[in-house]
Amino acid sequence: MLDNKGFDLWADGYDESVGLSDEENTYPFAGYKDILNTIYKEVLKSKDETVLDIGFGTGTLTFRLYEKGLDIFGQDFSNEMIKIAQEKMPEAELFAGDFTKGLCKDLLGKKYDAIIATYSLHHLTDEEKIPFIKSLIPLLNPGGKIYIGDVAFENREDLEACKEKSLAYWDNEEYYFVYDELKVSFHSMNFEKYSFCAGVLTIRK
Ligand SMILES: C[S@@+](CC[C@H](N)C(=O)[O-])C[C@H]1O[C@@H](n2cnc3c(N)ncnc32)[C@H](O)[C@@H]1O
Repeated sequence: MLDNKGFDLWADGYDESVGLSDEENTYPFAGYKDILNTIYKEVLKSKDETVLDIGFGTGTLTFRLYEKGLDIFGQDFSNEMIKIAQEKMPEAELFAGDFTKGLCKDLLGKKYDAIIATYSLHHLTDEEKIPFIKSLIPLLNPGGKIYIGDVAFENREDLEACKEKSLAYWDNEEYYFVYDELKVSFHSMNFEKYSFCAGVLTIRK
């Protein structure tokens, strides 16, 4: 699994390598553009004003929302990713911090209309995901939503089928979302599939 230094090294070439994997319809980024577009449209449709992005990377999604005038907050642990995103979004409040240790204090003191995490929370183990995501719910304004776009599957059989197909590239140190297993902990959770290896999980407050 990449640590913050690994992401620092990936930062400059990140957009290109993700785009390539999406275009070639390969694991892990097949469906990436559709997923980001879906979340972008949903956030605008809901007339959200305040957005928290956890693991924002180069700011591909949040920059588009920033351009539309939304207030952007975020946390990431790669200084290089933060540098790239902050240059694109000078007014955004972006913080450095490892989310496996929780959200930064400054972010905990605020409320958000939308909380977004794309391709970041698979760094949490299945046991860590549930309490972490539950801790985000009180940070939502009434009617707010959490959008998780990531390598994700309807059930474990679909995950195993994808693993079989992508064995040469499969990352055993990432913990992908399995909707069937998570929905028992989140009654308002929905899942929409965007490729053989990815989808969007939505949780309402
Ligand atoms: C694959 S990139 C996704 C970036 C962006 N959200 C996107 O959709 O393109 C994962 C991002 O999560 C950040 N990240 C990974 N683990 C993290 C952690 N434990 N704490 C904070 N940020 C983390 C990385 O630095 C990186 O910017």
